[in-house]
Amino acid sequence: MLLVYMSFTGNVRNFVERTGFSSIELNPANPFIEINEPFLVVVPSYVGYINDDVIDFIDYKQNRNNLIGFVGSGNRNFDEMFCINAKELANKYQKPVIFKFEYNGTEQDIEKFKKEVKSIGISGTKY
Ligand SMILES: Cc1cc2nc3c(=O)[nH]c(=O)nc-3n(C[C@H](O)[C@H](O)[C@H](O)COP(=O)(O)O)c2cc1C
Repeated sequence: MLLVYMSFTGNVRNFVERTGFSSIELNPANPFIEINEPFLVVVPSYVGYINDDVIDFIDYKQNRNNLIGFVGSGNRNFDEMFCINAKELANKYQKPVIFKFEYNGTEQDIEKFKKEVKSIGISGTKY
């Protein structure tokens, strides 16, 4: 199981690294990479950014067949727009948002997220 992520100011990168899962950072200039194992997409929230690049990635070759769902990082002050990118992408691809956190996530968030991954039984995890 792989975490495929984007990060503009480092929060998502920091969260992903602390989870200990294998990961790949998407390069917005070239999101056309092929993934041949189940993956979650972890995205920050910036309206009008990110989604087009993630869509290019997911629609590339057979990637969509390995898409499990989405994880969002955001700021709760945005209220109903909290983690809006993850929500929009989940809606587009009809896949779940399996976890949301603020900024780079607390230690509790990391533990909750790992439990969530374990509970959905993604093959190839380290657990
Ligand atoms: C210009 C700007 C717009 C943002 N818009 C949203 C938003 O609509 N919803 C939200 O939940 N968080 C929003 N955020 C918060 C970021 O998504 C959040 O800080 C995230 O952790 C950044 O991740 P990154 O450091 O990996 O880029 C915004 C932050 C900035 C600077």
